[in-house]
Amino acid sequence: MKKACVIGWPIKHSRSPLIHNYWIKQHQIDAVYERHAVAPENLHSFIRGLEAKGFSGCNVTIPHKQAALACVDHFDARVSLTGSLNTIYLADGKINATSTDGEGFYNNVISVKHGFTVANKSVLMLGAGGSAKAICEKLLRENAAQIVIVNRTQSRVAEFQKIFGTKIKMATEAKLKEHMAETDLLINTTSQGMTGQPELKINLTSLPPHAIVADIVYVPLKTQLIKNAEALGLTTVPGLGMLLHQAVEGFHLWFAIRPQVTSVLYNMVEADILAEQNI
Ligand SMILES: NC(=O)c1ccc[n+]([C@@H]2O[C@H](COP(=O)([O-])OP(=O)(O)OC[C@H]3O[C@@H](n4cnc5c(N)ncnc54)[C@H](OP(=O)(O)O)[C@@H]3O)[C@@H](O)[C@H]2O)c1
Repeated sequence: MKKACVIGWPIKHSRSPLIHNYWIKQHQIDAVYERHAVAPENLHSFIRGLEAKGFSGCNVTIPHKQAALACVDHFDARVSLTGSLNTIYLADGKINATSTDGEGFYNNVISVKHGFTVANKSVLMLGAGGSAKAICEKLLRENAAQIVIVNRTQSRVAEFQKIFGTKIKMATEAKLKEHMAETDLLINTTSQGMTGQPELKINLTSLPPHAIVADIVYVPLKTQLIKNAEALGLTTVPGLGMLLHQAVEGFHLWFAIRPQVTSVLYNMVEADILAEQNI
């Protein structure tokens, strides 16, 4: 039997087992996807022991996404640029790592807006945290014209400019309206709007009618940002699809099958989130 798992500390809120075990069953693979709470002091020995424990690989979540870099034999350019990984897989006798958040974000946008390409387009990004970095890496690889970043802590945007170069522009909230007018894709990568966090207060009326508004927050399933964009008739991309699409690549690396993100899977994970919120 093949095995994969997700590791974090704590780990009980991860929905990865639900997603991967759904695909395992759908494709009738002799495999199981587990969850393991791994304390920081046990991270190195757990990752180095993956093969001995019978795992093909694992997902890595908070707080291990940076520390795990020191535990693997090889990581790709996505990981070296962003300094963070979320997927480990065994191949060619080595422990390898990648990051699938950027692919997950972009494929989710395309699944909503078929045929969309960010090439030569202007992006307005709210936030400059870990997910923002993974998304920037992917959008620049897809030839985005520029990514204008607004973040509470401006020094973090300067770090993005150092990593990704001159296509990253720093903006202040005062200039938001101006930037919005030339935006093709607006993305919230901050935790604002998430249940239990402060609301994201932003006026979207300066966006052009073709603009896409994406939120990577998925609890609640439809954030106020997404509701406001819908009310203006804009194309909207809620965050749950990113979670599902980022899982595709890991599954493919471990089990050699590229699974589909279907409405059945989407509804199942959505129901799990609603149940947790007692809605
Ligand atoms: N859909 C998915 O698959 C997916 C994947 C990953 C993450 N997420 C969600 O994305 C969100 C961000 O995750 P992350 O890992 O990137 O977090 P992170 O690295 O901690 O970054 C958080 C970002 O939010 C900003 N922020 C937080 N509170 C704020 C506030 N009160 N006012 C203004 N800005 C604030 C931070 O600004 P400062 O730099 O100023 O602190 C930073 O830019 C979380 O809600 C997470 O659940 C979703």
